[in-house]
Amino acid sequence: MTRQLHLGLFIYPGGHHIAGWRHPSVTAAGLSTLDFYRTAAQLAERGKFDLFFVGDTLFTRERDGRFFGRQAISNLDPVSLLSTLSSVTERLGLVGTLSTTYHEPYAIASKFATLDHLSRGRAGWNVVTTWEDKAALNFSRDRSMEKADRYIRGREFIDVCTALWDSWDDAALLRDQATGQFCDPALIDRIDHRGDSFTVRGPLRQPRPPQGWPVLVQAGGSPPGRDFAAAVGEAIFTAQSRIEEAREFRSSTHARMAGYGRRPEEVVIMPGLSPLLGSTEAEALRLERETGDLVHPDVGIWMLSENLNFPLYERDPHDLLPIEEIRRVKKPTANADTLLSEAARQKLTIDGAARFIARSRAHQNFVGTPEQLADLMELWLKEGACDGFNLMPPYFPDQLAVFVDQVVPVLQRRGLFRKEYEGTTLREHLGLAKPVRGQFQRRLARSAA
Ligand SMILES: Cc1cc2nc3c(=O)[nH]c(=O)nc-3n(C[C@H](O)[C@H](O)[C@H](O)COP(=O)(O)O)c2cc1C
Repeated sequence: MTRQLHLGLFIYPGGHHIAGWRHPSVTAAGLSTLDFYRTAAQLAERGKFDLFFVGDTLFTRERDGRFFGRQAISNLDPVSLLSTLSSVTERLGLVGTLSTTYHEPYAIASKFATLDHLSRGRAGWNVVTTWEDKAALNFSRDRSMEKADRYIRGREFIDVCTALWDSWDDAALLRDQATGQFCDPALIDRIDHRGDSFTVRGPLRQPRPPQGWPVLVQAGGSPPGRDFAAAVGEAIFTAQSRIEEAREFRSSTHARMAGYGRRPEEVVIMPGLSPLLGSTEAEALRLERETGDLVHPDVGIWMLSENLNFPLYERDPHDLLPIEEIRRVKKPTANADTLLSEAARQKLTIDGAARFIARSRAHQNFVGTPEQLADLMELWLKEGACDGFNLMPPYFPDQLAVFVDQVVPVLQRRGLFRKEYEGTTLREHLGLAKPVRGQFQRRLARSAA
């Protein structure tokens, strides 16, 4: 059978275009309401998407130390939001971001076990270590941990969470009302974890989640981040915008996974894709121009400066982006590096780079018709550049509705995407096996030996 695409919907207040929230079709007053999220989630479910993804950063972007009022900020707490959405959707996977740097594993294992129970096996966790220094200031610290340390802590965090989810055997629940035996204590174990960052006794106060564990998603771009993803990631979100780079990313991820005794079919790799769709190419280009024109002049330069961690406010926007100078002053993050490489390739001016980042934060952009988009998605799948896409509509819900009504049917006709959900859990949608109890701990022991 032809390999099938997997689809995630990456939600963002208003849309992924920085000016998306200003688009006339968007109800700006609704961005903190359940209606906004319910409409998007139900549309995604109508389109048979695998999952709905909510990010989180734990800080707000500023300009010169002050809140910048020209950004659409309404980032609701992911797990609370997804728990609510679990009651208005039936099949859609629900993936939320939570940071291993600023939380404790017992609390987080419990939150995701709860979401998995409430949603009957649709939970996923985007495991982030939070790269941004400003987040530290909200958690009683002066600065972020060193990157390597973030990931060391992240690994231990996952060891503890997986052990906690496994602290109950699937067969431990008896619920025998006649005898009064609710569960079998012989099948519920403490974990007695003592590590460098955490001491956790266990067991968890919920039964094993329906999926065993929620699906573990990772999106780290740096070498330690990629290694973390290879060790624990079951879905990987990424941001290559060129097919050759995406193919290289996918094959090198598979090679890294082999180092952990893992096989390629144990992961689903989903690059971001931000399509602006029109019924003709001319219409799509017009929509792109119109959305671009909604970007206030201050906003693009601000976003660029923030993302590069390099102030560009006083520069002439018509100058070329000073790539070498930026690289010299501060070693760029993985995200900034992607942006700088793209700017070098396209010889972008400061203004050009600002427009580029405003569009979808350096993920792959597409402008064209539904058929053309289906061609691109098919090509990436067939060329081994991805297992699917994390869709990032520039504004919601209109552009999502166009995708669901006009791109999904083309993919289905071509045999590249499901017509109906076959399973009920997120693992089943993604073709990922339910983890056997104790599997992760055995793998850890093997890789440490
Ligand atoms: C599609 C995508 C979504 C991401 N979502 C989040 C997020 O919600 N919160 C966050 O702190 N980082 C998020 N990241 C950033 C990564 O987790 C990672 O920190 C970043 O790529 C930098 O890599 P590094 O941490 O390995 O340096 C996301 C990255 C991608 C590609």
